[in-house]
Amino acid sequence: MKQVDLLYTGKAKSVYRTDDPEVYIMKFRDDITAFDGEKKDTLGGKGSYNAEVSSFFFRYLEENGIETHYLGSIEPATFAVRNLEMIPLEVIVRNVAAGSIVRKYPFKEGDRLDPPVIVIDYKSDAHHDPMLNDDLIYALDLVTPEELDQIKAMALTVNDVLSEYLDARGIILVDFKLEFGKYNGKIVVGDEISMDSMRLWDKETRASLDKDVYRFNKGDVMETYAGVAKRILSPPREE
Ligand code: C5P
Repeated sequence: MKQVDLLYTGKAKSVYRTDDPEVYIMKFRDDITAFDGEKKDTLGGKGSYNAEVSSFFFRYLEENGIETHYLGSIEPATFAVRNLEMIPLEVIVRNVAAGSIVRKYPFKEGDRLDPPVIVIDYKSDAHHDPMLNDDLIYALDLVTPEELDQIKAMALTVNDVLSEYLDARGIILVDFKLEFGKYNGKIVVGDEISMDSMRLWDKETRASLDKDVYRFNKGDVMETYAGVAKRILSPPREE
């Protein structure tokens, strides 16, 4: 399989076509952005940490019976994925109140959300990713009711699998964003699962171990990403 040409370039990743129409290459760049692209930087090595963690989580989800677009690693910051028909939804699962839910609703940061809260945004730079509800999703003809049920169920299963995995390593999965696509009519998890798309807190100190360190200048972003990648890729802690 050979890389052919650039298909799409986003804020932190680029996707390339290959000589196999079924396979794309996803490259995690060292760019980091926040606040709808208002804050931007390039941090050497960041792409590799996010690709490594994403690859690991996709393999782990597959081992746990959840289908993803992941096909295999190519280089430290690059992996091969299936060519999916992407669904323009950002499916956010929240276990603890933080970020936009605290700004928009009367939650306090750190409030436990049990059962978890699913929030679905419309993935559209032109419309600044507005929040959807089920009626809007059907009116926009984005997915069918059966597909939406399946997407929500998959998001909650991913939440269970990743929360348990991270908890065993002293990390709270506060919230995360998933994207889905279709392959041969089947809905599978696409895009990335990395420190850029999750909120992770240290269980003991509640320190941020994710992009909030960059968003809110909470410390050295690369040191945080390197440290959390190492923790995620290590065996569980002895309690
Ligand atoms: O900003 P907000 O609190 O709504 O984000 C919820 C979660 O979804 C965070 O983990 C954030 O990193 C992730 N997210 C994302 N891409 C977006 C919006 C949110 O990865 N476009």
